[in-house]
Amino acid sequence: MPPKPLDKKFIPLALSKPPLSLYIHLPWCEVQCPYCDFSITTDPIEKNDLKLAQAIAQDLADSAAFIDGREFRSVYFGGGTPSLASAEAIGIILDAVQQYSIVKDAEITFEMNPRDVTAGKLTALSALGINRYSLGVQSYQDQELQALGRNHDKASGLQATKMLTGINSTIDLMYGTEHQTIVSFEETLEQFIASQVSHLSLYQLTIEPNTIFYKKELKLPNEDQIESMEHLAQQRLESAGYKQYEVSSWSKPGFESQHNLNYWQFGDFLGLGPGAHSKITLGSEITRFRKIKPLNGYISNQITTDHTIIRGEELDMDLAMNLLRVKNGVTHDQLGFELPKSFLAKYQLGIKEGLLCEGTIGATPKGYQYLNDTIKLFF
Ligand SMILES: C[S@@+](CC[C@H](N)C(=O)[O-])C[C@H]1O[C@@H](n2cnc3c(N)ncnc32)[C@H](O)[C@@H]1O
Ligand code: SF4
Repeated sequence: MPPKPLDKKFIPLALSKPPLSLYIHLPWCEVQCPYCDFSITTDPIEKNDLKLAQAIAQDLADSAAFIDGREFRSVYFGGGTPSLASAEAIGIILDAVQQYSIVKDAEITFEMNPRDVTAGKLTALSALGINRYSLGVQSYQDQELQALGRNHDKASGLQATKMLTGINSTIDLMYGTEHQTIVSFEETLEQFIASQVSHLSLYQLTIEPNTIFYKKELKLPNEDQIESMEHLAQQRLESAGYKQYEVSSWSKPGFESQHNLNYWQFGDFLGLGPGAHSKITLGSEITRFRKIKPLNGYISNQITTDHTIIRGEELDMDLAMNLLRVKNGVTHDQLGFELPKSFLAKYQLGIKEGLLCEGTIGATPKGYQYLNDTIKLFF
């Protein structure tokens, strides 16, 4: 029997060329926050600001094979603290990006720390093409900010938030931190809601190995308090018109992060800058790799390291860890590729256990509540 012709809309994973997004990592930080395990440097920026931008531009020029003729679906400047870089440096990088194709009106996000938000900086960045800002507020409470070792206070957080009024932006908040109570968290949530910013990333503090917090005895809210905070966030954000569309992400309708959705819908991403991670689909395999972390090493040679190839049934876990994060699931149309048979077989077991939905690829409310266990079905 001849093989069944392919439905053009659904390309088997093995043959597909998924959409591609671009991540640019700028590692600058004024201080090392005691909970942070991102690839950062507190070295003075001036001497290396332009050198790093030129190295990233070179890295991008050398990445044509990974880009493989695709348009960038979104661009994201993350850190570290991109807002410490000069507008000249960002201009060098964006000029290099323009050498490739970008989807019309693509989301171009830029992370900022509150102390760097000035009208002049926003005007300069917007003139370069930045059209979305991500502000790392963490909390609108002085005591909590001090315990997090932040170099900003409540007043500068509020001032920076106000400057973003009417500009497409998102705010990062954290819960489960020292000195935080249900009442203080509620106040922070109310400040966020009052700001009318249309997107929120809400992260529970995680204690990462190799951080100062890992070695310290911390007085953190207990599990019941954490659950109450999550419940409160759900109630307050929903009644204020925000929808949770991913484990940590809330937005007003139409303001979901296109860049983050690309990760969770299993798109490819190219990461440039010290320590930046990439995921590229090559034939029937997925390759994950990262750039070297030391700043000076990256500036002199943008070497790629830690290559991992994921193929066959190993892909199931990778798919589950991304797709199932999306609340209410992903439709087959949104995916645009056929899921492997081994994934679908495990998925059927999840349906039987009431953890996974029929129709869309996603977790039921019960499966979403115990997401880590649900994902284990795909081991
Ligand atoms: C890589 S940081 C960069 C943003 C910016 N430099 C800042 O600190 O505001 C992105 C976000 O990740 C979150 N984050 C970083 N470390 C975390 C941790 N250990 N636990 C939970 N959230 C964390 C914070 O909300 C932070 O705003
Ligand atoms: S949390 Fe942000 S500011 Fe603090 S060290 Fe990490 S990247 Fe830098």
